[in-house]
Amino acid sequence: MNTRYRKLIIAGNWKMNKTPADARDFFKKLGPLGRKGGRFEAVLCVPAIDIPAAVSASKEMRYSIGAQNMHQAPSGAYTGEISADMLKNAGVKYVIIGHSERREYFGETDFTVSEKVKAALDAGLRPIMCVGESLQHRQDGLEKPHIAYQVAAGLSQVSEEQISRVVIAYEPIWAIGTGNTATAQDAQDICCHIRSILREKYGARKARAVSILYGGSMNPENAADLIAMEDIDGGLIGGASLTAEKFRKIIEEAAAVNS
Ligand code: PGA
Repeated sequence: MNTRYRKLIIAGNWKMNKTPADARDFFKKLGPLGRKGGRFEAVLCVPAIDIPAAVSASKEMRYSIGAQNMHQAPSGAYTGEISADMLKNAGVKYVIIGHSERREYFGETDFTVSEKVKAALDAGLRPIMCVGESLQHRQDGLEKPHIAYQVAAGLSQVSEEQISRVVIAYEPIWAIGTGNTATAQDAQDICCHIRSILREKYGARKARAVSILYGGSMNPENAADLIAMEDIDGGLIGGASLTAEKFRKIIEEAAAVNS
């Protein structure tokens, strides 16, 4: 984390959990965010159906609300889908794009990821673009080229003006929901690698302004060590974001590292 140049972001990803009533209850338990300067942001990425409840329950509490997916087209005959404009209009600020579960179960490719990232930016949303290697890639020593490809492909339609609004989440697939967190040093190595790819494409000044998050079994016990790393600017948190107490603790750990 280096808040001289970029924002620290703690983002929860509820996945397919919680009803609108659960969402209201969660924010009541979570309570307001103690501090929110220009350099720290806490986000909850909730199921689409929970967005109105989350936006209204978190009002005056200084959290930002995110979505977990969107369609790349501005409107049209795409039954069951939601556009970036609809999310924006509902009070959403962030949207997760290309989570490994979307890639694995819903056929998302690096190409659709690049289309969605572009559509999100054009609509004024901040995409949280997910990348990450499988266990097989890591065992074969291919994690860096794999990540480099995903980053380059996902950002292929992102201009120099837009890059600072993109958030990248490094989520090794073998660490998601498994309790196997990457070591802080391993996560740092990949996040630093991602920043070097950004540097090559957009230059040093732009690259150092991009927040790069780590995701994969982050919890109140390991958050501080991960976030203390130079190139890890926060977390994308699944399981531990479902409990208000745990999510709040992670926010406190992050704020302590940041102070
Ligand atoms: P996890 O999920 O924290 O439960 O590992 C992270 C994610 O998938 O975003």
